[in-house]
Amino acid sequence: MTLAVRRVRAGEGERVRELRLRAVSDPGASIAFLTTYEQEVSRDQAFWDDRAAGGADGDSAAMFVAESDAAWIGTCTVLVRRTGDVDHTGRRLTSGRADVVGVYVDPPHRGTGAIDALLDTAARWTAAVGFETLSLDVHVDNARAQAVYRRAGFVPTGETFTGPIGAELAMSRSLRTL
Ligand SMILES: CC(C)(COP(=O)(O)OP(=O)(O)OC[C@H]1O[C@@H](n2cnc3c(N)ncnc32)[C@H](O)[C@@H]1OP(=O)(O)O)[C@@H](O)C(=O)NCCC(=O)NCCS
Repeated sequence: MTLAVRRVRAGEGERVRELRLRAVSDPGASIAFLTTYEQEVSRDQAFWDDRAAGGADGDSAAMFVAESDAAWIGTCTVLVRRTGDVDHTGRRLTSGRADVVGVYVDPPHRGTGAIDALLDTAARWTAAVGFETLSLDVHVDNARAQAVYRRAGFVPTGETFTGPIGAELAMSRSLRTL
């Protein structure tokens, strides 16, 4: 079995949709994702085609997928925010920021290193587009995700807030050594 991480390609909207529907069906989805299965399943194909195209090229968003042989088994996305943007939690930003969102690995592939490869690829891309820090928010009860992020070099910033899914904490990772 081979594991590879790559950026999504324009035209892969159907695969993006299938993976997202699996993610929001996860038993832990309510403390992981800002949208529900019902919201995602009701979107039309143009939405998913746009999401794939938006994550495939340019410096504003990058969606990465982990492939085991040819199958997609995990994903994460980096969203680049500019000063004045409103982020995915509704906060207006006073400076630019790169956030990891949409982190998911299929259950049979958990504990295999897929998430480490995804986060490493995301960090390298973020450094390459000029950021010195990579940020994320994680639900206070999502202990497994927090452990993974700590292993990947993220540390709590000390900021906590109540977002759409409840109490979250912010973590960030320096990219200066990459
Ligand atoms: C979060 C996710 C991507 C992590 O990937 P993974 O392959 O499961 O992670 P790993 O198995 O490599 O690592 C899990 C870590 O959590 C730890 N862990 C597992 N269960 C735990 C628990 N209940 N409490 C605390 N730590 C826990 C493990 O010990 C391991 O840490 P270690 O390597 O320091 O020992 C995956 O579990 C997932 O997709 N979960 C559902 C969606 C989600 O929560 N996404 C994140 C949104 S912020």
